[in-house]
Amino acid sequence: MKLLLEQIKSIVDPSLPLVSNLSNASAVLKDMENINWVGFYLVNGNKLYLGPFQGDVACMIIPKGKGVCGTSFEKKETIIVPNVNEFKGHIACSSLSKSEIVVPIIKDNEVVALIDVDAPIYDRFNSEDKEFLEEVAKLLGPLF
Ligand code: SME
Repeated sequence: MKLLLEQIKSIVDPSLPLVSNLSNASAVLKDMENINWVGFYLVNGNKLYLGPFQGDVACMIIPKGKGVCGTSFEKKETIIVPNVNEFKGHIACSSLSKSEIVVPIIKDNEVVALIDVDAPIYDRFNSEDKEFLEEVAKLLGPLF
């Protein structure tokens, strides 16, 4: 994952549009092992809209407080879900997804976007993934 972090550092270019940076960041993150979906949800008021991603078609709008993403948005914290069937209100975009991690991207103390990663196996994400994705979120925050 260190390599992926270095790759993201090397591709991020603040002089270029946000959508271009996030698109390439999602392309790097898709190389995380054993995942079936990775992408961004962007904050707009009290809603999250689907941003650049890699994977199957996904839900385009999520209200604050709903699903894993909306809960991470509301709580301003990373959420690891070992088994999506056991998370009340989980929004199933793909029947393949069994576990999930959602990490907020924070700028000026406000959540501006989320990184969402889904895995086709239970219990895929641990504290190392959390630390890695939180580093990625820190790198991307200034772009917003
Ligand atoms: N499962 C998420 C929805 C987004 S998809 O996983 C791509 C949720 O419950 O917020």
